[in-house]
Amino acid sequence: MVGDRTAGERKIAWAQSHMPVLGSTRARFEREHPLQGRTLSAVLHVEAKTAVLALALRAAGADVHLAAGNPLSTDDDVVASLVAEGIDTRARKGESTAEYTAAVQALLQFDPELIIDDGCDLVALAHTARADRGRILGSTEETTTGVHRLRALEATGKLRFPAINVNDAQMKHLFDNRFGGGQSILDGIFSATNLLIAGRTCVVAGYGWSGQGLASRLRGIGGEVIVTEVDPVRALEARLEGFRVLPMKEAAPAADLIVTVTGMREVVAEEHFGLLKDGCLLANAGHFDVEVSREALLRSSVSHRTVRPQVEEFVLANGRKVYLLSEGRLVNLAAGQGHPVEIMDLSFALQALSTEHLALHAAQLQPKVYRVPPEIDRRVAEAALPAFGIRIDRWTDRQREYATSWEMGT
Ligand code: ADE
Repeated sequence: MVGDRTAGERKIAWAQSHMPVLGSTRARFEREHPLQGRTLSAVLHVEAKTAVLALALRAAGADVHLAAGNPLSTDDDVVASLVAEGIDTRARKGESTAEYTAAVQALLQFDPELIIDDGCDLVALAHTARADRGRILGSTEETTTGVHRLRALEATGKLRFPAINVNDAQMKHLFDNRFGGGQSILDGIFSATNLLIAGRTCVVAGYGWSGQGLASRLRGIGGEVIVTEVDPVRALEARLEGFRVLPMKEAAPAADLIVTVTGMREVVAEEHFGLLKDGCLLANAGHFDVEVSREALLRSSVSHRTVRPQVEEFVLANGRKVYLLSEGRLVNLAAGQGHPVEIMDLSFALQALSTEHLALHAAQLQPKVYRVPPEIDRRVAEAALPAFGIRIDRWTDRQREYATSWEMGT
């Protein structure tokens, strides 16, 4: 075991003390044990906040098995602490693709009833490695890319069990993707490079929720931001937010930093490398390491070397040097510490409650992609208010009546 168990315990305790929404769910789980005796396999980024979720699920009665959502996102100290706690955790920072795949396969071999996925790798395996759904009652999905994959399975009639799309819950994407991503992507870039953003031209590829959060934060610290998009509505949205919008071929020559947040492959590819300025930083914050093609970068380079942890220098054929962060993997988790704790409190409370929903209501659910039930979204929002020190007004009876009246205005 490479990690330090005591350091892991401290990291988990810090996260736990800032996760009151999941904490109150856990307190109820301890009383009610809604997952008693259930086998649960989760492929998630194994770091402190995830450990708080895993412990809450165990407190609910589940037999929890955990593997990494990405070979570089694991915190080995947290793994050591979870293993000492008796939670089967199969993850190591920097693990090979073979180790990663073996861990996901092992999680399926436990014959889970419940799955929590981040990127859909475990659900995909459950559809390819077996002839039927086994005991699986259903799964929940954390991230945009995973939801795309689930929808593709559903559209071809292949989805074998209900899957809850946690990503698109209001209490997830409005906060996790935008505010969590906005902060944690910067955290990763800062930690990897220690370089200044102010006065630099930053290209954000993709203006979804994460891209929006990132673009506004880069601007907030003095970056000049250019957005690239394929969606006309989002492109217009970015323009009216005050960002320049350009095709990548025109944005690339101006860039000091390019961050991809698209979910698409080869967003920065061979055709762009020769256009880049000397010193340009390249980072990816989309789920898979396909957005900036490292393979293509290697092919286009005369040499490459690691110049700092998480920073590889590529010398291109034209003599210019460009720098790829975290091998093109999720920079916010590989070089940074993932989304801020308070944000993951909301996302993981949704995960815990959606998993409970599956355990309790699977018999009424079809093999479809489901939204998080609105009452769960609402419950998390209500619990988040005191956690964030927010008090709000409530409608009076007269106002409630007015709101549902066709005679509004009188
Ligand atoms: N920490 C744990 N899971 C995460 C995720 N999906 N995104 C960012 N930080 C995380």
